[in-house]
Amino acid sequence: MSLFGVKFFVLAFFYFFTVSSRPTGVHLRNMDSFIRAVRQVEDSNPGLSPLALVRALRRTAGHDDMMTIHFLGGSYNLTDAAGLETAILNASSFSFFDKAIHHIVTDHGEERGVVLAPDGTTIALAPLLLGIESGLKAKMEGTTAVGIFPLTLGRTLGLSFLSLQDFPAFLRLGPNGCWDNVERPKVFKLSRPPTLATDALINGGMDGAILGTNLSNLSASEQPQALSEILKGYYSFVLSEERGLDAVTSHVSPRRRELSRSILETLDLHSQLMETLTLVWKLEKTEWIALDTGVSKAVKDGLKTFVHKYWDCPQIISRCQWGAKPPRDTPIPLSLPLQFLYIHHTYEPSSPCLSFTKCSRNMRSMQRFHQEDRGWNDIGYSFVVGSDGYIYEGSGWNLRGRHTRNHNSIGYGVSIIGNYTSTLPSRHAMNLLRHRLVQCAVDGGGLAANFTIHGHRQVVNYTTCPGDALFSEIRNWEHFQG
Ligand SMILES: *[C@@H]1O[C@H](CO)[C@@H](O)[C@H](O)[C@H]1NC(C)=O
Ligand SMILES: *[C@@H]1O[C@H](CO)[C@@H](O)[C@H](O)[C@H]1NC(C)=O
Ligand SMILES: *[C@@H]1O[C@H](CO)[C@@H](O)[C@H](O)[C@H]1NC(C)=O
Ligand SMILES: *[C@@H]1O[C@H](CO)[C@@H](O)[C@H](O)[C@H]1NC(C)=O
Ligand SMILES: *[C@@H]1O[C@H](CO)[C@@H](O)[C@H](O)[C@H]1NC(C)=O
Ligand SMILES: *[C@@H]1O[C@H](CO)[C@@H](O)[C@H](O)[C@H]1NC(C)=O
Ligand SMILES: *[C@@H]1O[C@H](CO)[C@@H](O)[C@H](O)[C@H]1NC(C)=O
Repeated sequence: MSLFGVKFFVLAFFYFFTVSSRPTGVHLRNMDSFIRAVRQVEDSNPGLSPLALVRALRRTAGHDDMMTIHFLGGSYNLTDAAGLETAILNASSFSFFDKAIHHIVTDHGEERGVVLAPDGTTIALAPLLLGIESGLKAKMEGTTAVGIFPLTLGRTLGLSFLSLQDFPAFLRLGPNGCWDNVERPKVFKLSRPPTLATDALINGGMDGAILGTNLSNLSASEQPQALSEILKGYYSFVLSEERGLDAVTSHVSPRRRELSRSILETLDLHSQLMETLTLVWKLEKTEWIALDTGVSKAVKDGLKTFVHKYWDCPQIISRCQWGAKPPRDTPIPLSLPLQFLYIHHTYEPSSPCLSFTKCSRNMRSMQRFHQEDRGWNDIGYSFVVGSDGYIYEGSGWNLRGRHTRNHNSIGYGVSIIGNYTSTLPSRHAMNLLRHRLVQCAVDGGGLAANFTIHGHRQVVNYTTCPGDALFSEIRNWEHFQG
């Protein structure tokens, strides 16, 4: 059951965002451009505190809604923001920051206020900056952080669960979308009608919760870095050839799902969300919505979907993001759930890919090889595991791949980029497959609960795939069958 008023509120919300849409500027919508613009403001204001800067950015973006003011105070009211405005509000950077931070979805399904991060994921800046502001405020004032969860994720998730109570739970979150051009990103289009919790808002919210918690928790002797440095450390890092993500101890963006889970799972998320909604209603003077007996159940169902989709499942880089060509013929649908998972290595490319740029290039060259030299319909694998922290979509969950002769209709074929004859992939890459992708597949109905894992070499005669080293490794995995 849902009340008319909830729907009305949501409509008003969409309306507000839609009418305040503005034309897109010429700036590239990537995290590096945003960090460079922040850096310019820092350079022209020596000694600037990062807290003053995030507040001034909030003011520029007009994010002074009641809940933000409740937790962080009004940005218009803070004297430390005043001097900065000249730096931020001057013509060129004002239009940049305003467009980069102000979140809206247009009537045409274009999402703004989002940027493409170097790891290939799309981030809404508003919840990211609110999380950082909350953490910095606690650190500078020596208090415990308040509002990190409600401001970064809680409000977004709660309102999305409620607004779409009549929809199946899995449609109350997302979607993701596609950039017009990943090298020169300007326009981000959503892949279906938006909920109030698009993937970009959830990514930005997770990142805001991670960075905010970290900042609020710095020891008394540590001073926070400049905002540009905080962002650079998290988004623009280079992984080492040797152990990839296994060698990284600091917080970096490809770890957003595991890190946000470890921080937030300790909270009772159901009661946190109910508290957040109660606060929204109080501030909006719409307390009567609490009388809707369906609220608690909508939150419970929504959270279950959230945990499955954004924590159990790994983030999968979609075909449009890595620059896939369409299949040459109509693909054949699979009949789910499947009984088998076949493990491959790519052999060539022979080295693990450690960045979005490199993994995407590898995906494109494998697709070209499979389509043009082999004459296949599409890239053969169902999914491909990079060593950049992500899984790449091949033929996906629902369509038949071409990976394991005579077995393509009964199993998924997943390949890890690299030659694993005598070395192993990073622990992180193997765990993405062994734990995350597998759990996601079973819970999502792609694999039967009693499915079995096999190496490619076990079912066809002419190959040593997935390599001696990787094959001896997977013999120890759950579900492996000799
Ligand atoms: C505007 O601000 C940017 C960044 O702070 C700075 O580089 C630029 O020189 C400023 N322009 C003017 C006209 O003040
Ligand atoms: C703004 O400042 C005034 C005077 O210091 C104070 O009374 C008021 O509560 C502040 N408002 C907000 C929203 O912080
Ligand atoms: C906060 O810092 C302490 C000590 O540095 C650390 O043990 C703890 O895990 C941190 N908590 C979070 C949530 O990051
Ligand atoms: C978060 O804090 C830990 C220490 O508590 C540090 O090692 C790590 O680099 C920090 N991460 C970021 C992104 O600031
Ligand atoms: C794969 O690794 C094996 C063992 O290190 C090596 O002999 C072989 O040449 C490699 N193949 C490619 C294509 O790199
Ligand atoms: C898995 O379970 C399904 C139905 O529960 C059954 O039909 C199938 O034979 C089982 N497969 C194996 C390999 O045990
Ligand atoms: C592999 O080859 C052997 C001998 O040629 C044959 O007996 C066996 O059936 C083959 N196995 C498969 C899976 O094709």
